[in-house]
Amino acid sequence: MSVTDSQARDSYLQVTGTTKFFGDFRALQDITFDILEGEFVCFLGPSGCGKTTLLRCIAGLETQTEGLIIQAGRDISWLPPSQRDFGIVFQSYALFPNLTVANNVAYGLRNMKVPKAKIDERVAELLGLVDLSIHADKYPGQLSGGEQQRVALVRALAMSPGLLLLDEPLSALDAKVRAYLRREIRDLQKRLGVTTVMVTHDQEEAQTMADRIFVMNEGRIEQMGTPSQIYDQPATPFVADFIGVMNFLPVVVDGASSVRCGNLSLKCDTGKFASDTRLNCAIRPEDILVDGGDGADNLLDLAIADMEFLGSFVRLYLRSPELGDHELRADVRKTFASQQAIGSSERIRIRIPADRIRLYGAEA
Ligand SMILES: Nc1ncnc2c1ncn2[C@@H]1O[C@H](COP(=O)(O)OP(=O)(O)OP(=O)(O)O)[C@@H](O)[C@H]1O
Ligand SMILES: [Mg+2]
Repeated sequence: MSVTDSQARDSYLQVTGTTKFFGDFRALQDITFDILEGEFVCFLGPSGCGKTTLLRCIAGLETQTEGLIIQAGRDISWLPPSQRDFGIVFQSYALFPNLTVANNVAYGLRNMKVPKAKIDERVAELLGLVDLSIHADKYPGQLSGGEQQRVALVRALAMSPGLLLLDEPLSALDAKVRAYLRREIRDLQKRLGVTTVMVTHDQEEAQTMADRIFVMNEGRIEQMGTPSQIYDQPATPFVADFIGVMNFLPVVVDGASSVRCGNLSLKCDTGKFASDTRLNCAIRPEDILVDGGDGADNLLDLAIADMEFLGSFVRLYLRSPELGDHELRADVRKTFASQQAIGSSERIRIRIPADRIRLYGAEA
């Protein structure tokens, strides 16, 4: 079955009020979400935030302290892994070293006493899916990391599970193989329509692969949304800081349409915040523009303290006496930087569109 975005999808996996303690340590705190059938969700967050623990609770490899887990309408909260319907892939591949590629993939099917002819057919089909047919008789030790991970992936899919769980499946691989496998996993997932949850601490991986990202921090979900929602409308300062690059400036509200950072006034929508409230103002480096001005925007003359060449763009580090110790990072196209022959220790006029300035309260 293939699932396209235009089809209405049913809810497939519901986690409600889930908490996990290890002794006195609370690894998960009141986790609640709903994943749709055929959806690809990434749990994204820093090391130790609880991603693996949450995945393991869904698999039954860990038991939650409190909370319900419903898969395809069935309450699986307290079932052992063997009675749940999932395939799992770990960071370390965890292939059986003494079994050939084909026998690794066949392992679960043999345990289920599937007839041999059916197993052979299924293994051939699965290895074909990830272009590994010619490696069927090799042992894992004779494969590259990327090939081993593809074997692990189809082994997890062999029993046609309703749910595919991936725990940092790409993090042991080098950058090129990782980028290639991202697309391969994504394509395979879409083709099979299997509901998938992947754990990663790599935001680029989450952004390129997921339908929705759940950003986690200290055992809680900070935000759930599509990659572009998470990037463009980060709900909390943590998400704003964790996803992409963000400038933060401490500001004070100066009426309904501006804030102040020291002596510097910035026009923006101050929304619900009252005058004199202390806030953090967040601006993405790519939202600081250097292409002339428009009266509706904030125009500032700043000194270029430093610059870095980062491939297709140049990152400027901008300072001004009004900003005190704070620096603004601005990303400009490399062609602009070379055309204008801008260099460090010069001044530059920038503009910041008012609608690209986000404000966060201290409590957010
Ligand atoms: N079996 C355990 N006993 C005690 N504490 C544990 C256990 N498993 C995990 N923890 C703790 O729970 C927290 C969350 O761990 P978890 O493995 O879920 O993090 P993670 O988000 O997957 O991190 P990483 O990106 O490093 O893999 C960590 O502080 C970890 O030390
Ligand atoms: Mg982990």
